[in-house]
Amino acid sequence: MRTQVVIVGAGPAGLLLSHLLAMSGIDSVVLETRSREYVERRIRAGVLEQPTVELLREVGLGERMDREGLPHEGISLRFDGADHRIDFAALTGRSITVYGQQEVVKDLIAARTAAGGDLRFEVTDVALHDLDSDAPRVTFRDADGVRQELRCDAVAGCDGFRGVSRGSIPAGVLTTYERSYPFAWLGILAETPPSHDELIYCYHEHGFALHSMRSPQVTRLYLQVPPDERIEDWSDARIWDELHVRLAADGFALTEGPLLEKSITPMRSFVVEPMRHGRLFLAGDAAHIVPPTGAKGMNLAIADVRHLSRALTAWLREGRTEPIDGYGQACLRRIWRAQHFSWWMTSMLHRFPDADAFQHQIQLSQLRYTATSPAAATSLAENYVGLPFD
Ligand code: FAD
Ligand code: DHB
Repeated sequence: MRTQVVIVGAGPAGLLLSHLLAMSGIDSVVLETRSREYVERRIRAGVLEQPTVELLREVGLGERMDREGLPHEGISLRFDGADHRIDFAALTGRSITVYGQQEVVKDLIAARTAAGGDLRFEVTDVALHDLDSDAPRVTFRDADGVRQELRCDAVAGCDGFRGVSRGSIPAGVLTTYERSYPFAWLGILAETPPSHDELIYCYHEHGFALHSMRSPQVTRLYLQVPPDERIEDWSDARIWDELHVRLAADGFALTEGPLLEKSITPMRSFVVEPMRHGRLFLAGDAAHIVPPTGAKGMNLAIADVRHLSRALTAWLREGRTEPIDGYGQACLRRIWRAQHFSWWMTSMLHRFPDADAFQHQIQLSQLRYTATSPAAATSLAENYVGLPFD
């Protein structure tokens, strides 16, 4: 079978790319190793930047997000046991929306399915071939185990950090920039109303904690833990005890509830360049990872495929090649801004195992300055709400 673009991965990047390409009259097939139920339930990101929200609205995906998403005009930095609000609306005139990644994924799958889009779940053995030629191919086994081949003009590698696409690029082509952090995040989803109206980013001597939410009935919470921590060692009671200790502040009471999910995520910064090799284009986590503290990963994936859909449209519909040649450069400016912001938030808010008293005082000073200087607060706010797309 032949299609114009084979998209590997049905996360936010791959699904949105297939939607945007369809809007431009370009056909694609999306290949995903997991089941539809699995990708629709996978709990991950929660914060949509304003440019992401505007884009989703523009392309007809805003209806449920506008109904169920929670608009937020600020966050709190909590340290020294007190809250310091960063007022996005006052500082930037912009805001963010709390709307789970799995809800964005559900909306995208519903839209693609309603439009007759070709999404193949539960495929195996995905392999990319002849990427250097004019006739790339992708082979895989379908959900019934039958071997299939798709011929295409281009392959979009949207298969996340552990996917097959990046590894299909020959050795020596990619330059990798990487940093790993000496901690991980333990995340829980709890069936209990949020204990505060807004997100709380908390710096505590035991480590970072984050209070977030998914709805008026569901709270999302994270704890900094050692990088090799096992989830089995964290009973629900231990998690709540630690959250109470780290999030303690005057007038704040953390409400507990049954856990719906708990998991541990490592923290890393990672970028590869170039984002294109022959007919393969990488997008989203396949090309770059940020530590989650800046809430940028899904937003960057969406920004990448906005560029990629435009570049592929110019090429496949009008025969113009400059946009595909410039694809990586067009994305990397925003990617490095998000890398810096995510590294900066991570460095300011976590306890590093080798940190001494000097380091602790430096972090507290940075927090106090960010909380009290309108210039510093505006810098955090404009990055957090999302810089305009170029
Ligand atoms: P993914 O969502 O990883 O999708 C890739 C898809 O490819 C997956 O469905 C996978 O199953 C599939 N796949 C893998 N291998 C193959 C293969 N060989 N063949 C076919 N398919 C394959 N980002 C934010 O913007 N805001 C936040 O608040 C935020 N918080 C986060 C909190 C946590 C705890 C975590 C873990 C992440 C967070 N992120 C956040 C990051 C965000 O979730 C990711 O950046 C985002 O999922 C990237 O989307 P993607 O489509 O590039 O990749
Ligand atoms: C959430 C995740 C983040 O990484 C973050 O910085 C803020 C909120 C969340 O899952 O709600």
